[in-house]
Amino acid sequence: MKPTVEGEVAEGYGHGKVILVGEHAVVYGYPAISTALDRGVRARIRPRRGPTAPSSGRGNYRVEGAIRALLPEYGFQVELESTLPVGRGLGASAALAAALVRADAARRGESASFETLHERAFAVERCFHGTPSGADHAVALLGCTLRFRRGESLEVRPLPPLGFALVVLDTEMPKDTEQMVRAVAARRPAVDPWLARIGALAESAESALDDLDALGEIFDENHRCLAEIGVSNEPLDRLAAWARAEGATGAKLSGSGGGGVVIALSRDPEGMVENARRQGIAAMVAAPADGATEWAARVAG
Ligand code: PMV
Repeated sequence: MKPTVEGEVAEGYGHGKVILVGEHAVVYGYPAISTALDRGVRARIRPRRGPTAPSSGRGNYRVEGAIRALLPEYGFQVELESTLPVGRGLGASAALAAALVRADAARRGESASFETLHERAFAVERCFHGTPSGADHAVALLGCTLRFRRGESLEVRPLPPLGFALVVLDTEMPKDTEQMVRAVAARRPAVDPWLARIGALAESAESALDDLDALGEIFDENHRCLAEIGVSNEPLDRLAAWARAEGATGAKLSGSGGGGVVIALSRDPEGMVENARRQGIAAMVAAPADGATEWAARVAG
């Protein structure tokens, strides 16, 4: 979605995401595949007298830190609307950063490139996450499914929209991305073969995105590899096993692990979510964004 300025209000949107294949390995230069969700964060920036502040969410260090990183100290009120749960691995903080950098560019009447906005959103995120790969920000800005690789330069390749919704099963345990990334770094080089295998799975997922069975197998193996590098835990393993027993073609933890969510592929996502809720599991259907953004087309060239 393009940022807009209406009267004196500047607006921007950032999408939430799920990582389909490749988390953790992406930090070491392997590719990952993520998809944008039809949920996200909208930011509106209005001029006002007095210090720059959010209209709500005061005391939230992420929101206040992101605003401080981007806007002048005085003169603006920032309204934020989110349809994303926070801290679940669904990209809420990257969506917040993307919405803010877009609204800020709109406020200044600037038509910034994807690379520029990505660098800015990424800089905001580094305040919170230490050394994130930047994949979430690319998805948040582009609103599509994409292949991402962080080499010497950023490689972002938009992929065709997913034709199905995902089931998200929530451990309801907080996760700490920075700590999990550090824990994996400390286990190297012992875990390097698993990281390489995760990278290879991301490569093969690209041609399996329209095949629930093939992608499901990739999800299952990706989950096993993530367990091998030490980022799964009993609640994540249990939810993935539950989904498979309920007929999912595959299931894996998504994001940094240690908490957060499992994503599952099902031919009946609504039915699976209903069953999960009946059994006391926090669950939701996550529909992909439509993917047809003008930005994604521009990046694809
Ligand atoms: O838990 P999330 O959604 O913040 O995802 C983290 C993904 C990692 O690969 C573990 C880190 C990163 O920056 O890519």
